[in-house]
Amino acid sequence: MAFNYREGNIDDIEAVFALNRQVFDEAWSKDVMLQSLQVGYDLFVCYQGEDLLAYVLSQDILFETQIMQLAVRADVRRQGIAQQLMGMLMQAKHDMDALVLEVRVSNIGAKAFYQTLGYDPVAIRPNYYAKTGSKPREDAVLMIYKPNSIGNHD
Ligand SMILES: CC(C)(COP(=O)(O)OP(=O)(O)OC[C@H]1O[C@@H](n2cnc3c(N)ncnc32)[C@H](O)[C@@H]1OP(=O)(O)O)[C@@H](O)C(=O)NCCC(=O)NCCS
Repeated sequence: MAFNYREGNIDDIEAVFALNRQVFDEAWSKDVMLQSLQVGYDLFVCYQGEDLLAYVLSQDILFETQIMQLAVRADVRRQGIAQQLMGMLMQAKHDMDALVLEVRVSNIGAKAFYQTLGYDPVAIRPNYYAKTGSKPREDAVLMIYKPNSIGNHD
C-alpha cells in the first residue's frame, strides 16, 4: 500500500502521541503535544492506510525553524520516509534563515541521516538530555541547515 504524506493537524494527535511514546525515551505528554499544535507548531505526517508511519514536528522562532521531533516507526525505516517528510518541511521553510535541531551524540543513525540532507554539526550542548530510564545524561549535537547559503540554492 502506498505511503501518503501530508500536513498534519489536531486529528492526528492520538496517533502521533502513540508513535512518540514508541520511539523516544523522553516522550511528550498528549497535552503538551496538543498545545504545541494549538500555538502554531508545524506537523507533517506519513500514513499507510490508517497507520501513522512517521511524523516531523517543528516550531518557527523568528527566522529559524527548530525541528522538535522526527520519528519513523522502527519496522519501516531506511525506505526514504524521513527524507520525504523532511523534504516537505524544508520546502515549506525554504525562506527561513536556518533549520536547526539537537540530536544525542550517541544517535549515529540520525546524525548520518541529517548530514545526507545537508545539515552540519556546529556545536555541542553539554548534558542537554536529562537522565531517563536506563539512559544517562547525554550531550547534544546542534545541527544546522541554511536554506539560502551559497551552495544550497538550485
Ligand atoms: C533517524 C530516522 C528519522 C531516519 O528515518 P528513515 O526513514 O529510516 O530515513 P531514510 O530512509 O529517509 O534515510 C535516508 C538516508 O539517510 C541515511 N540514514 C538514515 N538512517 C540511517 C542510519 N540509521 N544509519 C546511517 N545512515 C542513515 C542514509 O543515507 C539513508 O539512505 P539509504 O537508506 O539509501 O542509505 C529514523 O531512524 C528514526 O525515527 N530514528 C529514531 C528517532 C530519531 O532518532 N529521530 C531523530 C532524533 S533528532
